[in-house]
Amino acid sequence: MSMQKGPIEKKVTVRTLRRMKGVEPITMVTAYDALFAGLFDGEVEMILVGDSLVMSFYGAEDTLGATMEQMLYHTRAVCRGARLPLIVFDMPFGSYMSEEQALQNATKVYRETCAQMVKIEGGREKAGIVRRLSENGIAVMSHIGLKPQSVRAEGGYRIQGRTTEEALELMEDARILQEAGATALLLEGMQADVAAKITKAVAIPTIGIGAGNGTDGQVLVWSDMFGFFEAFKPKFVKRYLEGAALIREGLRQYRDEVKSRAFPDEEHSY
Ligand code: KIV
Repeated sequence: MSMQKGPIEKKVTVRTLRRMKGVEPITMVTAYDALFAGLFDGEVEMILVGDSLVMSFYGAEDTLGATMEQMLYHTRAVCRGARLPLIVFDMPFGSYMSEEQALQNATKVYRETCAQMVKIEGGREKAGIVRRLSENGIAVMSHIGLKPQSVRAEGGYRIQGRTTEEALELMEDARILQEAGATALLLEGMQADVAAKITKAVAIPTIGIGAGNGTDGQVLVWSDMFGFFEAFKPKFVKRYLEGAALIREGLRQYRDEVKSRAFPDEEHSY
């Protein structure tokens, strides 16, 4: 748990998010462990335990290999580290193929972790699942636009909403998912004007990533935004820190000091 007080002092709930819509932008970052979740505690309203975990930290090519067991393990760690943010559990590929399976797995998430919401990729084709979960007391964040779990089926990542037809489809997906009971929408990789229109059209909060400035909030993957993940940098990622360079600098200093026997010095010895 964080030792320092951040700008957020009260537990964030779905009601907090509803109150913030149209009033104050919502901040969300990913986290996968207790150490970093503790650093983010009190600093952002939401933490997403994203399946990006397997790309950022397991070196996978895409997110499809993430499992329920991995996601539960990492979410439990995040729950130990962060007390105040609303924690979202990213349902991994293959964990919500049917309403029954989705309900079973999402129930496990509520039982075994402190997550307050589960995230499910998909538009109107997932409305039945969203309805089933919300009718059973589980808050759902629906993820539309660019859906990383569809990368193999679609042959790559592609920005959505570039044609009028696609934009209308996305708007209709958002409407249907809200109607099915979604608590929030995640809008990824879409034209900024489409994301802004969806945000205006729905009553539930929207969180964007690569979806411009017109959403109710923003999310970034922490290892991207702090410059630890260097393999590639999508256009929408802003680096707020050059983390990898800082680590290398620290490591080289450590190495030099060990080699020269400057470390450990008297201060760091018993
Ligand atoms: O897994 C993840 O981190 C995500 C974000 C890209 C939104 O789904």
